[in-house]
Amino acid sequence: MVLLGIETSCDETAVAVVANGCRVLASRVSSQEEIHALYGGVVPELASRRHLETIVPLYRLSLKDAGLQTSEISAVCATTTPGLAGSLLVGNHFGRAAASMLKVPFIPVNHLEAHLAVNFLDGLPDFPSLGLVVSGGHSTLFLVSGPNSYEVLGETRDDAAGETFDKVARALGLPYPGGPPLERLASGAATAVTFPLPGVRNTCDFSFSGLKTAVIYYLKDNPGADKASVAAGFQASVAGGILKRLDCALTRNPVKTILTGGGVLANNYLRGRLEQWAADKGVCLRIPERAHSLDNGVMVAVRGFHLLKKLQSTSSAC
Ligand code: KG4
Ligand code: ZN
Repeated sequence: MVLLGIETSCDETAVAVVANGCRVLASRVSSQEEIHALYGGVVPELASRRHLETIVPLYRLSLKDAGLQTSEISAVCATTTPGLAGSLLVGNHFGRAAASMLKVPFIPVNHLEAHLAVNFLDGLPDFPSLGLVVSGGHSTLFLVSGPNSYEVLGETRDDAAGETFDKVARALGLPYPGGPPLERLASGAATAVTFPLPGVRNTCDFSFSGLKTAVIYYLKDNPGADKASVAAGFQASVAGGILKRLDCALTRNPVKTILTGGGVLANNYLRGRLEQWAADKGVCLRIPERAHSLDNGVMVAVRGFHLLKKLQSTSSAC
């Protein structure tokens, strides 16, 4: 089965072609960073307009890259929730129209489940697993009991991890999106300022706004502060807080495998801390390659593949 995956939930337009949930035949991502950087954050109306302009060329390019005719597509999948309403609408409606034109099923996909499902590209893990998604809009811990079974164990009570990176980066005078430049700044630090660990005690819930406020007040009270040391301290604190919540989830759900996903996983320091933590705990850790951590169409096609398999097995059972 060859599936087309469409992602337009925020500020990346992405289309991919994936065979049998495991072989990537094409993956195109068009970033809108340069548009939103002018405003210091995503402007929803501009995002949806750019998706409209980009989706058709990306669809054509993806089919060309894959070397496929439209008749070889078995299903079309698109992210339909959660995300920016206008942006979601573009992928959702384009996907439905394409599926109708090709006379194949349309599969609606949840963005957070897709971030975790991309870990199944190399085969299914042991179930149940824990799933960690840290992105610009979400910080969520899941118990994943099967390829189609996702239960939320905890989520952020305020800002998401990526959102906090973006806001703290702004306070440090860095451009949007803040994660990559903040990581670069932190990598040159000789020392790290100590900040409190974010999170909600004895729960699997995250909370990052206290940390954000602590960094902003630190910068206000110490105008001459070394910004690299502040960035390094902030990054260490985010990673430490995420590991604390994972500790809590693992104690309550002693699984063998941890799945991860979301743009913040592009951060090398966080990847290293997670790898060290997993080795200490003796659990198997899956971290998607950088391009599959950030928003992409492959994850949507992989999630859609498992949903389609489930649909097919239920309809053949009837
Ligand atoms: O998953 P994603 O591509 O889009 C959403 O679903 O939100 O995540 C985007 C987020 C942004 O907040 C961005 O600043 C953050 O991921 N990010 C990073 C890095 N690269 C992207 N955060 C920390 N370090 C990075 N290297
Ligand atoms: Zn995402």
